[in-house]
Amino acid sequence: MSTETEKILIIGAGGQIGVELTAKLSEMYGSSNVVASDLKNTDAFNNNPFETLDALDKKALFDIVRKHGITHIYHLAALLSATGEQNPMFAWKLNMESLFNVLDLAKEKHISRLYWPSSIAVFGPTTPQENTPQYTVMEPSTIYGISKQAGERWCEWYFKKHNVDVRSLRYPGLIGWKSAPGGGTTDYAVHIFHEALKNRKYESFLSENTALPMMHMEDAIRATIEIMHAPAEQIKIRGSYNLSGISFSPKDIAAEIKKHFPDFSISYKPDFRQAIADSWPKSINDSEARNHWGWKEQYNLPKLVENMLINLKKTKTA
Ligand code: NAD
Ligand code: SER
Repeated sequence: MSTETEKILIIGAGGQIGVELTAKLSEMYGSSNVVASDLKNTDAFNNNPFETLDALDKKALFDIVRKHGITHIYHLAALLSATGEQNPMFAWKLNMESLFNVLDLAKEKHISRLYWPSSIAVFGPTTPQENTPQYTVMEPSTIYGISKQAGERWCEWYFKKHNVDVRSLRYPGLIGWKSAPGGGTTDYAVHIFHEALKNRKYESFLSENTALPMMHMEDAIRATIEIMHAPAEQIKIRGSYNLSGISFSPKDIAAEIKKHFPDFSISYKPDFRQAIADSWPKSINDSEARNHWGWKEQYNLPKLVENMLINLKKTKTA
């Protein structure tokens, strides 16, 4: 894929992943070739063309694609697991209809490639929780997970029926320092760093031994870019790929933070998000991603914690 001729649109660019993906793609393609869009603008996009866009507005989306000559879309706008459970009908509408809007643009050949993220939320309480394979029982119990599972099936269908070049990853919980968490069950593992730096203590909404699959945001951004740049014949799964980084519980991450701040303490007050976490895998087997297009993570837990603390400290003293 040549980076000279591509023109990229990121939908939901103001979110946790979008801010970092926009920055990375801008380094590769040049800021003027990466159009950021979201419901409203933020300071993050001073160097990129920005379009205010509601992903549910198909005509506005089409107009932006035509106006900028967009070739590739990264569609990130969604309601995540915890906020989705608070507003299930809207979560279904946003997560599904916005996906159809971009799939249709690709089907009609207005764009040539599409990225859409899925999630570990596609798995459910009947899924084997340890080393969860790519192909297994999938009975998600959240509206978010149901929408992601349905989305995966639609992506594969558009690929098979309409030759749509859509690529997707089942992200684990993502941990980055550049933006605030956006309503996910795994977001305790982002909040904990902010509280560690500010108050040296954290009250976790998940119980101490709730292990979940997680990943540093840099690894997730690299995986996203790698799958989008892989030759089409290496992408053998057009639903979504399992993707694994590390796996840890609130107790594990607290112990690692304590190595940096010996006076840090954690307490546990599980809420409705505990049931969501309990329904998800504890660890993921992503051998297909490794074998098909060469995926490998770079961050383990000590490296992730060190990186988060160093960078967040800088932002707080800047
Ligand atoms: P986020 O909530 O931080 O960001 C989502 C962005 O979408 C926000 O900036 C929001 O303003 C925007 N948005 C919401 N409704 C919109 C609409 N109607 N039109 C346009 N923009 C709209 O989420 P994120 O963590 O950046 O996640 C991005 C994607 O990755 C989502 O599809 C999510 O399901 C998926 N994902 C995230 C994680 C994670 O841990 N963060 C894990 C698995 C999958
Ligand atoms: N991190 C996401 C969430 O907790 C998983 O997709 O909702």
